[in-house]
Amino acid sequence: MSTRPRAARMKNIEPFHVMDLLAQARALEAQGRSMVHMEIGEPDFVTPEPVVDAGIAALQSGKTHYTPAVGLQALRERISRFYLDRYGVEVDAGRVIVTPGASGALQLVLSVIVNPGQQVLMSDPGYPCNRHFVRLVEGVPVTLPVDAGNDYHLTADQVADAWQAATVAVMLASPANPTGMLIPDKTLKSVIDVVAQRNGCVIVDEIYHGLVYDDAVQTALAFSDDVFVINSFSKYFGMTGWRIGWVIAPPEYVRDMDKLAQNIFLAASTPAQYAALACFEKETLAILEQRREVFKQRRDFLLPQLRRLGFDIPVTPQGAFYCYAGCQSFSKDSDRFARELMQEAGVVITPGLDFGSYQPQTHVRFAYTTAMEQLEEGVRRLEAFLA
Ligand SMILES: Cc1ncc(COP(=O)(O)O)c(C=O)c1O
Repeated sequence: MSTRPRAARMKNIEPFHVMDLLAQARALEAQGRSMVHMEIGEPDFVTPEPVVDAGIAALQSGKTHYTPAVGLQALRERISRFYLDRYGVEVDAGRVIVTPGASGALQLVLSVIVNPGQQVLMSDPGYPCNRHFVRLVEGVPVTLPVDAGNDYHLTADQVADAWQAATVAVMLASPANPTGMLIPDKTLKSVIDVVAQRNGCVIVDEIYHGLVYDDAVQTALAFSDDVFVINSFSKYFGMTGWRIGWVIAPPEYVRDMDKLAQNIFLAASTPAQYAALACFEKETLAILEQRREVFKQRRDFLLPQLRRLGFDIPVTPQGAFYCYAGCQSFSKDSDRFARELMQEAGVVITPGLDFGSYQPQTHVRFAYTTAMEQLEEGVRRLEAFLA
């Protein structure tokens, strides 16, 4: 019997499990059921008006052709200035590569450093696509368990112990998805040192950097020039659907990334790039800072409520818009727990399974990407359900 061609690598690429849950929730909503959505990993706010206006103006003035593969020079320079203004760190605009979201950046970076069979270290739980991107380039993702004891981050010792001859890189995210935890500066510096001693690469995903609620946060570029730092206009800047992000690369990799970007993307969306220029205007930043304050208020409401209800959240998430919660008091099957919660109480959350294989059955992720009234209603429903 003949079979259709099929790439073996697809066996290793999983969908987002929460999408099934979301599809069921949408079907129930179509039948008139009300749902409180606490599973969605994007801001509920629409793109700030000055950014939308800049996008429209770009389209109307004929900015509809390709840009250079590494991005508009003006945007690369503006991003470079952003590092100086926000972090006091000088970044040569020549190291800035504009990409189709952080997703495009992750693919470019991994493609230029990983050979088939080589290993990339990352935390478990962690952002699920990282594992899949490594598999896409036929590398081997090595997931290392992290827990509240180390703020859900890899330590230098863990990295050193796990490093083998075939290891080429470590991926970090700060604040992280699904935990919202920042990497302490000291840990970050020591991981960078350990990897430098082994001649490997450090990739730091700073996509949630704008959404940090307590202390000031420093970019990994303040500690080393020799790291890949990934960021995006998606989360803090509210442009998820425009598909635009960036990466700061060590200079020796820029040419390869440029070549690859030419081949796989040609360039990021041109109107999105012009729109993104408006992200750094004072007026836009004022809107974004107000939104950050709203996210902080939501976290400050939701976190104590979840703890009061009996969810185990041992450390306070400092950023992003997630609370990663132990649900072991209620269930040892987070998937089933999430399904029942949706069906019986009309609250949608993400089961741990999406984030790795370390204790996923006793963890769920709550996202506070919905209005305060919805969060209040969600907590009421949760309380009734758990009772
Ligand atoms: C940690 C992390 N990195 C990268 C991404 C991808 O973001 P985008 O491609 O929209 O910039 C996400 C999206 O949820 C994320 O959570």
